[in-house]
Amino acid sequence: MVLVEGKNISFSYDFDDSSFALQGVDIAIEQGEFVVILGCNGSGKSTLVKHFNALLRLQHGELRVAQIDVKNEEEIWLLRRLCGMVFQNPDNQFVSSVVEEDIAFGLENYETPRREIPERVQSALALVEMGGYEKRAPNTLSGGQKQRVALAGVLALEPEIIIFDEATAMLDPGGRQEVAKIMRKLHRAGKTIIAITHYVEEAVAADKVILMAQGRVLASGSPKAILTDLDLMKEAGMLLPLPVRLYYDLRQAGVHLNHCPLTDEELVEEICQLRSKS
Ligand SMILES: Nc1ncnc2c1ncn2[C@@H]1O[C@H](COP(=O)(O)OP(=O)(O)OP(=O)(O)O)[C@@H](O)[C@H]1O
Ligand SMILES: [Mg+2]
Repeated sequence: MVLVEGKNISFSYDFDDSSFALQGVDIAIEQGEFVVILGCNGSGKSTLVKHFNALLRLQHGELRVAQIDVKNEEEIWLLRRLCGMVFQNPDNQFVSSVVEEDIAFGLENYETPRREIPERVQSALALVEMGGYEKRAPNTLSGGQKQRVALAGVLALEPEIIIFDEATAMLDPGGRQEVAKIMRKLHRAGKTIIAITHYVEEAVAADKVILMAQGRVLASGSPKAILTDLDLMKEAGMLLPLPVRLYYDLRQAGVHLNHCPLTDEELVEEICQLRSKS
């Protein structure tokens, strides 16, 4: 089932429509898919995903998310619950100075029955492996822990779709891995995951990569199809994943691997095969 279906979406931040942040974007995301959106600064990634839960109102085109027409004012509240977002800076995402109250706040907003709230808070914290931090102040947590608490606030509302807009950008490699692990866990549990990232390595394990440039979708396909396409990635202003770069560098040096590897493990395997052949 298609969960996000957009046709010909255009958007301008200027009232005079002189410059478009999005131009004629078509998009289709299936339920349960893990989609990574790549593109350089200003290519329109955040503008696009902010349409999915009506943080930005649709100006041109059509968009349905979880069967809801995003233009339907009466359904915005439901849409925002079904389509949760985690942003780059966790500090901007807290409304309370106590972790459990922060998560409960979102649930209260959605008129969750009072007796259900403690359990929903607990299970959301357990999902992000932050059980035991209920009474802590968010500002005493590490960046990675804050981002997981922010995610727990979204998960407590039981969304269908979770959007990560550069949610790992401010984290060190360990923090990034923690968030990536939780993304994979949510994906395995059937959630639809949409992740915007500047780290091409984070796109390798996606079901689908959407490559954006200058407000348009330049290409959409499997990680292999997109991330190993030298010309396409160059056009989008993106760096290739390291194993792919090495594949092309080796070719230039006259060393031909059988397949273009996407991961370090695949690269090692290709080099071992080469050695056993010679
Ligand atoms: N609030 C705003 N007001 C005016 N223009 C904006 C606003 N937000 C974004 N833009 C413009 O819209 C275009 C797309 O921006 P957007 O933030 O969607 O890009 P992005 O791909 O998310 O970039 P980044 O990787 O830097 O986050 C850019 O030209 C940007 O300058
Ligand atoms: Mg952005």
